[in-house]
Amino acid sequence: MNVLVIGSGGREHALAYKISESKRLDKLFIMPGNTGTKALGTNVNINLNEHEAIYSFCLQNKIELVVIGPEQPLVDGISDYLRERGINVFGPSSKAAAIEAQKSFAKWLMIKYNIPTAAYKEFNLSGYELAKEYIFSQKFPCVIKADGLAAGKGVIICNNAAEAFDALENIFGNKIFGHAGDKIIIEEFMSGEEASIFAITDGSEFVCLPAAQDHKRIGDNDTGKNTGGMGAYCPAPLITPLLMDLIEKKIIIPTINAMAIEGRKFIGCLYCGLMITSEGPKVVEFNCRFGDPETQAVLPVLEGDFLQLLYSAALGTLDKTSVKYNNGAAVCVVAASKGYPDSYEKGFEISGLDSLDKDIVVFHAGTKDDGNKILTNGGRVLGVTAVVEKPELKTAKQKAYQALEKITFNGMYFRSDIADRAIYRKH
Ligand code: AMP
Ligand code: GLY
Repeated sequence: MNVLVIGSGGREHALAYKISESKRLDKLFIMPGNTGTKALGTNVNINLNEHEAIYSFCLQNKIELVVIGPEQPLVDGISDYLRERGINVFGPSSKAAAIEAQKSFAKWLMIKYNIPTAAYKEFNLSGYELAKEYIFSQKFPCVIKADGLAAGKGVIICNNAAEAFDALENIFGNKIFGHAGDKIIIEEFMSGEEASIFAITDGSEFVCLPAAQDHKRIGDNDTGKNTGGMGAYCPAPLITPLLMDLIEKKIIIPTINAMAIEGRKFIGCLYCGLMITSEGPKVVEFNCRFGDPETQAVLPVLEGDFLQLLYSAALGTLDKTSVKYNNGAAVCVVAASKGYPDSYEKGFEISGLDSLDKDIVVFHAGTKDDGNKILTNGGRVLGVTAVVEKPELKTAKQKAYQALEKITFNGMYFRSDIADRAIYRKH
């Protein structure tokens, strides 16, 4: 089978890496791909807005499955375009991708179908005054979110009314989130620990991959600014089999069914960002795609045929037995450029990548190939992932950090406590 993966980040490198293990794979293409994916297939440079050109590429190269990584092309309707023309696609329609792209829709769906989430109210620009009044009735902290896509940055946690008014002014007045902030959600703050669960679904049946956790803040002990994610680990011991069962019954099954009833059948990876509260699991957010960097820690602990899983989901005949958890553990530590998530310099040579043990997989996120050198080319540069055969996060963590000692580039920054949350967990 010839397969096309769309996207260029660490997540897409991980998807390509797992797909390339499949015996069913013939040729693998990645559009546009990155330095890391070059070793696994052919990178193809077509603009992701050019649906017609992508479709022609699929025909010319006899692509039997297109796997879409990032949210933006999904929201822009690439799945719809290709599917309408007979191409098998793993990734939701634009209407189904609204579960991520319009938080107000996701919240409306959850309330309508009784899916546990934080209480909320939505406001648009013309409701600025009403939003202010509503803030007076809130307990603090409260959470203000942009309705639209904001690259994971559209959430402001407000500790008091003054901070909430500032947030309102920044979103509605100063437009810090652009049009994504033309509508906002004000919601209740949930306390607890977070987990990410990927449900692979063909629109009615589903399989959950082992739960993961990511570390969103830039600094150790979850301090400092929010980032796209500084590391992840899998499995997450927080999610016991009993809890997973509850999550499936209360959240995943009702959500997949609700999407189908609403005429937005969801085919792809439903990312459930959960808060495990004292009242049980609640939804923080849904995403319409695999999470990054969690994918870099989840896929390495799967055995079986991942391509078969995605292909069967795309065909509407999910093969639930195609993959299973291999009872191992993986820890992914992101090596970032100094300054990230604010401004940073690029173009520094990365060394040490060819001296790593075989239980280390390095996923590329922001790198550039300069002929014989690999250079930094982004904020998050590499996802250094250690994979061990036993469910021992501590060993995986040690191995990941040993590997990081061998890798160097000017201004390399990484957190030193990835997976500690699980390793030092109080039961
Ligand atoms: P989101 O982009 O919706 O996942 O939000 C980003 C992060 O903000 C989440 O991972 C949480 O850490 C935090 N967050 C969002 N909503 C809430 C909430 N209602 N209560 C507590 N924390 C939240
Ligand atoms: N790791 C969070 C996300 O992918 O949205």
